[in-house]
Amino acid sequence: MDKIINYIESNKDKYIEDLKVFLRIPSVSTNPENKNDVRDCAEYVEKQLRSIGLENISIYETPGHPIVYGDWLNAGDDKPTILIYGHYDVQPVDPLNLWTDPPFEPTVRDGNIYARGSADDKGQVFIHMKSIEAHLLNNGKLPVNIKFLIEGEEEIGSVNLDEFIAKNKTLLKCDYVVVSDSAMFDYDVPSICYGLRGLAYMQVEVTGPNRDLHSGSFGGAVNNPINALAHIIVNLKDDKGKILIDGFYDDVLKLSDKEREEFKKLPFNEEKYMEELEISELFGEEGYTTLERASARPTLDCNGIWGGFQGEGAKTVLPSHAGAKISMRLVPNQEPEKIEKLFTDYVNKISPDSVKVKVISLHGGKGAITPIDSPAIDAAVEALRLGFGKTPVFTREGGSIPVVNTFQTLLEADTILLGFGLPDENAHSPDEHLNLSNFQRGILSVAHYFNELSKIKK
Ligand code: BES
Ligand code: ZN
Repeated sequence: MDKIINYIESNKDKYIEDLKVFLRIPSVSTNPENKNDVRDCAEYVEKQLRSIGLENISIYETPGHPIVYGDWLNAGDDKPTILIYGHYDVQPVDPLNLWTDPPFEPTVRDGNIYARGSADDKGQVFIHMKSIEAHLLNNGKLPVNIKFLIEGEEEIGSVNLDEFIAKNKTLLKCDYVVVSDSAMFDYDVPSICYGLRGLAYMQVEVTGPNRDLHSGSFGGAVNNPINALAHIIVNLKDDKGKILIDGFYDDVLKLSDKEREEFKKLPFNEEKYMEELEISELFGEEGYTTLERASARPTLDCNGIWGGFQGEGAKTVLPSHAGAKISMRLVPNQEPEKIEKLFTDYVNKISPDSVKVKVISLHGGKGAITPIDSPAIDAAVEALRLGFGKTPVFTREGGSIPVVNTFQTLLEADTILLGFGLPDENAHSPDEHLNLSNFQRGILSVAHYFNELSKIKK
């Protein structure tokens, strides 16, 4: 390992320059106008996989954005096969004016690299590429068999991935899946995540009169779709944060006392959390701590809302339409399809008859809990100790990576979530960045991880 470690240490600056090339590609999967950029990015990943020494590299077409695959299966049948999963697509960049530097012109400032996708997830995908490269260049081989699966639609719900996995079970067969698309608990607190939330993402469209009306001539006689929408939204949750949809909590698994005790041991500073967000009070479901509410309990949030006049100044109008995007983060065992139905029924039940209400389901995904008593977890603990000089903590995260559940069901493989981002790195928001020390320590840890995994008896 010494040769590999020295190599990684001496290539620190080159890694940053190489990562910039990846980050310059505006692979925003949800924007139709970026379709070609997303493809360019898939081709970039393909080229990278080739240059680091993987074999059987292929771009697989889907009805949406392509999937890139490559492998290296020469470690021997007695060594475990590890499937590495990540995504090369990124979230939209708006509001653009809040970025210090343009989102696709990566810049290094204060020990961080700033660009859309730096933390989520290109930087973390890059960590794996460079660890593989370090092994192959210095040893001519990898200690384990590796399969590399990088998709371009994670940020839009991995809509075509389940089908690809179902059709390519043999190609993707593995002992463990490793994913780096989550965060460390804090700086200098390396983390292994064992729980992710699921998601049900809905859109509610409210239509009133057949055209915008003068709010003086018609106000009071005709229901206003914005008011009706506000009524619906307000009635989704009570003022203590409890969701009011009938049956919503039926399948929620109770947090065990043991797990709640473990949560309490995490080095969480609520004052610092509020200070950093510049808020004077927290809000959430009664009876749960902040960490539990943000990772192990289901929630409901408006993500966007529209209707009526949005320009400067005043316009007296009673609009014809209003709408909102509403997401529900689910916990493992809650089924997104069931929740979508409960949401739709409930919204229809509470909607005033004076407007038309349409409820659409945009996308969803299941949550996941992964076992923490596996040899691949023990190997991860050791690898993070070697890479960070600290023993990792175990966390649950509030975000979603729906394919983790698919890996469990279709490939019958457990996923190890090794996140190298940080919670305050602005994923999905302006000035997204990745801490460069974690980037470097990530490469080192993953290089150790391959080595530790090779010690597992098959
Ligand atoms: N990297 C995130 C998932 C994540 C976020 C894990 C925070 C742990 C902590 C991923 O790229 C993401 O944003 N996923 C989407 C999934 C959705 C579109 C189905 C999410 O959580 O919103
Ligand atoms: Zn994301």
